[in-house]
Amino acid sequence: MQHQRILVLDFGGQYNQLIARRVRDLGVFCDLKPFTMTAEEIAAYAPVGIIFTGGPNSVYEQDAPRPDAGVFGLGIPILGICYGCQLIADMLGGSAEKAAAGEYGKKELVLLSDSPLLEGVPQRSVCWMSHTDSVLRLPAGFVPLAATDACPAAVYGNAERKIYGVQFHPEVVHSEYGNALLRNFLYNICGARGDWTMHGFTEECVAALKEKVGGRKVLCAMSGGVDSAVAATLVYRAAGDLTCVFVDHGLHREGEPEEVMRVFRDGLGMKLIRVDARERFLRALKGVTDPEKKRKIIGKLFIEVFEEEAKKVGAVDFLVQGTIYPDVVESGTGKGAVIKSHHNVGGLPDAVDFKEIVEPLRELFKDEVRRVGTELGLPDEIVWRQPCPGPALAIRIMGEVTEEGLKTVRAADAIFREEIVKAGLEREIWQYFAVLTDSRTVGVQGDFRTYENVIALRAITSVDAMTADWAKIPFAVLERISARITGEVPHANRVVYDITSKPPATIEWE
Ligand code: XMP
Repeated sequence: MQHQRILVLDFGGQYNQLIARRVRDLGVFCDLKPFTMTAEEIAAYAPVGIIFTGGPNSVYEQDAPRPDAGVFGLGIPILGICYGCQLIADMLGGSAEKAAAGEYGKKELVLLSDSPLLEGVPQRSVCWMSHTDSVLRLPAGFVPLAATDACPAAVYGNAERKIYGVQFHPEVVHSEYGNALLRNFLYNICGARGDWTMHGFTEECVAALKEKVGGRKVLCAMSGGVDSAVAATLVYRAAGDLTCVFVDHGLHREGEPEEVMRVFRDGLGMKLIRVDARERFLRALKGVTDPEKKRKIIGKLFIEVFEEEAKKVGAVDFLVQGTIYPDVVESGTGKGAVIKSHHNVGGLPDAVDFKEIVEPLRELFKDEVRRVGTELGLPDEIVWRQPCPGPALAIRIMGEVTEEGLKTVRAADAIFREEIVKAGLEREIWQYFAVLTDSRTVGVQGDFRTYENVIALRAITSVDAMTADWAKIPFAVLERISARITGEVPHANRVVYDITSKPPATIEWE
């Protein structure tokens, strides 16, 4: 079934993925595409509405990014946010310029006029601003709908043309009625039906997969993470002849391999092969301390082992991958520098003999994948499992990976996870884990001097892992974790908490 779609044109704003998620949460499928899409391409894509995102540029700069002007003639409703709102004014004959004063943070929004865009928004409310430029002159036919102290056209529009601009950020939670504004745009202005639900997605996806892979030979590299687990379960439901391969590289977190086998092989009855490659990985990592080298060795070995198993399975029709939307979304802002070589199963296609890749989750955000997992009846331990990088604990041990180091970091990590769950924080913290640092410090335990390892705890909040803030875990919880780690984990006598955001740090330490 073809869902109604909203097209978000990306002008490089930091909240662009958040806009797409909000729209989807409101029940309408939404895609993020580069602003360079032509009007013909947009018409062919046939969205029910278009959103221009914010961005770091000013519309009066010579090479400021602009959409194809033909987009305004398509008769499709448009909502411009922040830079997008200034673009609409500028391109339709008004103007946006550097304002006398910028606005940053929470501001009071006052309504000036009734509008289907502002239905249900009270006369006064709080909105979240972040701009130095402002719309100074509206294009002909447009009227101001709401204002803040410093911004006389904080919301404006042309009801007949269904084109609107909003200077604040409706997608962030600090804008009290931001979600209401977005809902109004979708349902009152674009005429959305709300046909994007995870229940519907699951049913349609299984039906489509049945057509495609029913009775055919399918192979899946199961990592134990939520993405590959949900992708494999969808294919399994579609009655493909599915074989999953779980490469046990010995770098997993406490209890992970056993849990994967218990849920998927014993519980769901999937054909799941656990390959014991623990010694092989440890041998390959012996003496290696450089993080990039570790990643490369693990990525290559993973593919080798998987390929050997794939050969045993024989001619495969399809390979299942748990690719999700943020992995495939094209950004309008160009390519960044390589910060780390992320290992994932993306390296498999060249190595394995199969006919086609199946990526049932390529349209979904992580939280949507989790909802599909729940729809499919997967247990919370799998659905809410912490994201873990492919190289797993190997890049959470600074320096050489040893059996002893693995034991230490695994035990510390298990305590951290247990306490976070006990404190009921596991859903609000995006990712949390322990790191075995390469520092040793002096301690005193039971009247004896110790000279042991420092364990670092890392916990972050994030939307897409591109940027992150350190999680403000209550001191009492941190205290309990520290006491348990130093008390229960051999060779750990000190615990530190990482209070660095991303940037400048990355989430992982290596
Ligand atoms: P960084 O450390 O780059 O991590 O801020 C961003 C997110 O990506 C995860 N990560 C990886 N995932 N293979 C993966 O599949 C990798 O090699 C890898 N390295 C980092 C990290 O856990 C965080 O969620």
